[in-house]
Amino acid sequence: MNHDIAFIGGGNMARSLIGGLVARGHAPAAIRVAEPVAALRAALQADFGVTACEHGAQAVAGAGTWVLAVKPQVMRAVCEELAPLAQAQRTLVVSIAAGITTAQIDRWLGCGLPVVRAMPNTPALLGAGVTGLYAGPAVDAAGRDFAQALLSAAGTTVWIDSEAQMDAVTAVSGSGPAYVFLLAEAMVDAAQREGLPPEAARALVLQTVLGAARMLTESDADASELRRRVTSPGGTTQAAIETFEAGGLRALVAAAIHAARVRGAELSAAND
Ligand SMILES: NC(=O)c1ccc[n+]([C@@H]2O[C@H](COP(=O)([O-])OP(=O)(O)OC[C@H]3O[C@@H](n4cnc5c(N)ncnc54)[C@H](OP(=O)(O)O)[C@@H]3O)[C@@H](O)[C@H]2O)c1
Repeated sequence: MNHDIAFIGGGNMARSLIGGLVARGHAPAAIRVAEPVAALRAALQADFGVTACEHGAQAVAGAGTWVLAVKPQVMRAVCEELAPLAQAQRTLVVSIAAGITTAQIDRWLGCGLPVVRAMPNTPALLGAGVTGLYAGPAVDAAGRDFAQALLSAAGTTVWIDSEAQMDAVTAVSGSGPAYVFLLAEAMVDAAQREGLPPEAARALVLQTVLGAARMLTESDADASELRRRVTSPGGTTQAAIETFEAGGLRALVAAAIHAARVRGAELSAAND
């Protein structure tokens, strides 16, 4: 398999993936990026030693894999422009655009191509992301392996069998970091209302979120068990948890994730 990768779009998420690939030993000479913004091109070349071009056609020439990393609103126009080259090269195509289906990408590129849809999230910037992956019907085992290795540059990966579930992936992990940021924001505000100075409130909350995340990922116990272990009967944690439950926190989280999933489906339809 040709391991040359062409990125179409050199923005935030492409930059994270490229940084991760180069750090993991992927040869910079085997990575090309098409990006219209000159300053972004210069930064990609200076920081990672990859080749950055102004036009998609220059980047994709000879590449075995194309990574489509432009905003969903421009994806159709970008694909239709590259369709003749896609049909000539028959490459593996990996799209990271939220809400765009493999069938849409395939149709815009002229049909019959192996298309993988990936949904990374912003901790990819630190190599600590998680990506939901779905392989379209024309993707073979080698294509799946290559796509998984590529997205592993951003963190861990999870394969999804049904593309319909990709909107749920977007709603859970794609938008998920913002839910944790909101909780942190609310905890910092509450800490200050209880009289703590802003700096102390921030330090206490941030390390609590990091420590809890590490316990969740490094312990064998699941979230409910970890919660039970720190909730002594009649204690302070129980008083807080009962307040959360009485306020309907679980139903609110479910409603929020449902709203995000529905919005993802709407955006997908709007880009068709
Ligand atoms: N950021 C995230 O957390 C995240 C998470 C999951 C998925 N995604 C998906 O990743 C994709 C990229 O997101 P992003 O945050 O990296 O966006 P971004 O920073 O805006 O990057 C997109 C880049 O593509 C460039 N571009 C536009 N038209 C192009 C063309 N015809 N050829 C080549 N490049 C072109 C844009 O330039 P201009 O600015 O001049 O238009 C921009 O620099 C989106 O589809 C998004 O849904 C992002």
